[in-house]
Amino acid sequence: MRIIAPSVLSADFGHLAEDLDMINRSEADWLHVDVMDGTFVPNISFGFPLMKPFKQYCNKPLDVHLMIVHPERYVERFCDVGAWSVGFHLEAVDDPMPILELIKAKGVRTCLTINPDIDVKRLVPYLDKVDMVLLMSVFAGFGGQKFIPETMDKIRFIKAEIARRGLNTLIEIDGGVNRENAHALFDAGADALVAGSAVFGAKDPIETIHFLKSQNNIL
Ligand code: DX5
Ligand code: ZN
Repeated sequence: MRIIAPSVLSADFGHLAEDLDMINRSEADWLHVDVMDGTFVPNISFGFPLMKPFKQYCNKPLDVHLMIVHPERYVERFCDVGAWSVGFHLEAVDDPMPILELIKAKGVRTCLTINPDIDVKRLVPYLDKVDMVLLMSVFAGFGGQKFIPETMDKIRFIKAEIARRGLNTLIEIDGGVNRENAHALFDAGADALVAGSAVFGAKDPIETIHFLKSQNNIL
């Protein structure tokens, strides 16, 4: 699949409704929502109050990426305020299974994510338990960082494992995605690309989303 999920973290919050209107008019598939708590990551973004305008002004599914400790305390509330998918970090929890169950019980799609320093093999036992895995291609916490090239091999590894087991689990890539690397990412087996600064920092965000989405995928 070739899913493009612009990250609202890079939007202009003084003109949020306009930026969300741009997303609505674009070929973006999802709106990626980065929630940071200042503890799991050294940055604080936003939380529940902004889910309301995201939901109200954006007609694309909300792909929520929790960069927080104790996601078990908050996942249900994110489901209740309109998340279409809820993801949290494997390295932030002892056992992801009960948290995945909380999300599933709300009828919301599940995603497990890992930072670049976490062994990608740790995702393997959960590939048949989640709708999607998110491989961070920068360290979670800030938009506008440089893509870590080692991500490519991790995508190939996870893609092969998903294919070998005949699963439908999606692979999402987040961090430093741009016009230069989107093609290679889809080629390696990524299904969904998050793009923050590449979209919102572009002169023509709608054209950029179109460009990213039209990169070839061998599958
Ligand atoms: C980083 C966030 C990303 C970020 C991506 O912690 O998870 O979603 O917004 O931004 P860019 O595309 O600028 O790297
Ligand atoms: Zn993210």
